[in-house]
Amino acid sequence: MRAPDMPTPEAPWWRDAVFYQVYVRSFADSDGDGLGDLPGITSHLRYLRDLGVDAVWITPFYPSPQHDAGYDVADYTDVDPRFGSLADIDDLLARAHDLGLKVVVDLVPNHTSSEHPWFQQALTAGPGSRERARYLFRPGKGRGGAQPNNWESVFGGPAWERVPDGEWYLHLFDTTQPDLDWRNPEVRAMFEGVLRFWLDRGVDGFRVDVAHGLLKAKSLRDQRGHVHGGTDLPADRQQRSAAELRDVDEPMWDQPEVHDVYRAWRRVVEQYDGDRMVVGEAWTQTPESMARYVRPDELHQTFNFAWLLAPWSAAAFADVVRGTLAAVGLVGAAPTWVLSNHDVVRHPTRYGGGTRGLARARAATLTMLALPGSAYLYQGEELGLEEVDVPPEARQDPVWLRTGTVGRDGARVPMPWRGTRAPYGFTKAGATPWLPMPDDWAPLTVAAQRQDPGSTWAFYREALRARRRFAHAGDEVEVVEGRSTVLEVRRGPLTAVCNCGRRPVRLPAGDVVLASGPLEGDLLPPDTAAWLVRG
Ligand code: GLC
Ligand code: MG
Repeated sequence: MRAPDMPTPEAPWWRDAVFYQVYVRSFADSDGDGLGDLPGITSHLRYLRDLGVDAVWITPFYPSPQHDAGYDVADYTDVDPRFGSLADIDDLLARAHDLGLKVVVDLVPNHTSSEHPWFQQALTAGPGSRERARYLFRPGKGRGGAQPNNWESVFGGPAWERVPDGEWYLHLFDTTQPDLDWRNPEVRAMFEGVLRFWLDRGVDGFRVDVAHGLLKAKSLRDQRGHVHGGTDLPADRQQRSAAELRDVDEPMWDQPEVHDVYRAWRRVVEQYDGDRMVVGEAWTQTPESMARYVRPDELHQTFNFAWLLAPWSAAAFADVVRGTLAAVGLVGAAPTWVLSNHDVVRHPTRYGGGTRGLARARAATLTMLALPGSAYLYQGEELGLEEVDVPPEARQDPVWLRTGTVGRDGARVPMPWRGTRAPYGFTKAGATPWLPMPDDWAPLTVAAQRQDPGSTWAFYREALRARRRFAHAGDEVEVVEGRSTVLEVRRGPLTAVCNCGRRPVRLPAGDVVLASGPLEGDLLPPDTAAWLVRG
């Protein structure tokens, strides 16, 4: 506890910021090629400011053959002409900063594209070369030169690809995404240069792709007792029981040496003014292992995927809140919260879809926004968009192409802005969006929802406004025990209550600030959440 007469240092902006994830391909297309782009984002920054977010995270816009929607980077310090130019990113940054918005860019350090000059050089230079040593090339095993170990790609199939001279290279994702060797100092130096390049240009931070994966067990030994996935999520992203966890052996993830990388990056970032920040995408096994990434000299934040992985259940949500706060408390970090992103099924659909799924999604969002720390929203969730059933012939996710499982395209369908027919203002009328947009989205467009005070868009806007009032409600959270189907949390003067049960329940004491759906007098209906303030 802080003594009352000690001045509280001003918290850095990111500590309680609401971040909005812009999936660049699908946000807004300015030039009619069917692919969203940087000028498209710039022209909608005012929309984001009005919605009430504090910061924007933009997914990769770097030159890329786009085998994994830009997460296969061929040049880390330029812009893919399909998305714009360096001048466009400069404009975007200037405009965002004018509007008081921060901008975080995506950094993809685990792997490059196979079209990156380094990988091309590695192929020509051959076994034993300095060029190959930037990646994880290995000779085959045994007489037949079999694949060096038993690892599988997150996207399905083997994690090794053989090149014509007989060596294999590791790719934890697609074959077009060769993993770098982070034990090689050249790799570290290259990425420190990339950080500086974007920091010099004025970005406010980075989102680190696959932050738990950079270092592999040095021996590259076999994985023992491999757990096969039972859901659509890639194998490293499933919720496992404590018993399963004990058996999980992951020589490719979350190795202790990865933390040295983040200590080095922290030193780089701290040479810049303005509280620049780094948030890691670290899919680790426990809240405690996640917290190790946000020790005071490492990353500023990691995404906390616990709630996103939890079922619709007050008990499960309560465990998430308690577990998260306890874990970040160990290292003095602030928590983060997230329900959707471009890799998972959208949360209204996860919660059952339709009217009930949307009601639950709004309730979960409102509850999450009451908690201390920062929240990450994914474009389109403010419209209540559901996962789209993209027709097989239109799917583009390498997960689908490699394994024939549905993949992530359904969460990546472009934003509907206005109008009654596809492409709903996403791209020029008559142009073809990169993924087809549903025929029944007319009521869901931004323009339609702006007219309707009961819309999901209006609810998000109001919730983000209300959240600002409680910015100083403190970090202490009490999870109120007692009602098994109701999650009730108190934070300073604020109470948030979420009814996950089947019957209406009495609202706790206090004045209602807002609710995720209609209330029934002093009763909170099922699938509904409310904020109350004690007078
Ligand atoms: C991250 C990204 C995902 C991408 C993968 C490989 O998980 O969020 O979209 O496919 O990394 O870069
Ligand atoms: Mg375009």
